[in-house]
Amino acid sequence: MTNPSEPAGPPTLPPPSVPTGPRLHSRDSLIGADGLPTWTRLEIFHGLPSKTLENLRDAMTSVVFTPGERIITQDDTGDDMFVLEQGSVKVSVRGTNKTTVFERVLTAPALFGEMALVTSEPRSASVTAETRARCLRLGKEAFSELMRRNPQASVFLTKIVGERL
Ligand code: CMP
Repeated sequence: MTNPSEPAGPPTLPPPSVPTGPRLHSRDSLIGADGLPTWTRLEIFHGLPSKTLENLRDAMTSVVFTPGERIITQDDTGDDMFVLEQGSVKVSVRGTNKTTVFERVLTAPALFGEMALVTSEPRSASVTAETRARCLRLGKEAFSELMRRNPQASVFLTKIVGERL
């Protein structure tokens, strides 16, 4: 209980607000032991000249998701793809009766969110950060440019989408 004869203490300040949603980071990529950005190890980027890789990197935005944060929601329209640079994410597919029919954890380096761009269908699954997940986000236009410049990438994507379907 407070004593009215005692001087009032300092006013109580509300706790500092915690930023919600993804936090944007510097454009630096995570570098592997081989001195190259880890995302360039993914098959989709193989065979691309370093200039194209640089342009691609410029077209991607770094984004960090906190554990449990929703990155993609099933059935939404998709207009970007993600390269997971660090951490892991959980892919879950819900059936018509809302029960989870499929779950899979993807660990970096990995790719997700490519299906909606390839098939022009709504998102096939929800994707949630399992751990702190550091990603690079590639928009639709940059994605189309990548496909135009690298026929190998479209072959790879068609393969990966086929496997995931
Ligand atoms: P997209 O459909 O755009 O959004 C959800 C993403 O989850 C999807 O792209 C794939 O990247 C990923 N996904 C869907 N199904 C699978 C699967 N069977 N295995 C791995 N990833 C998947």
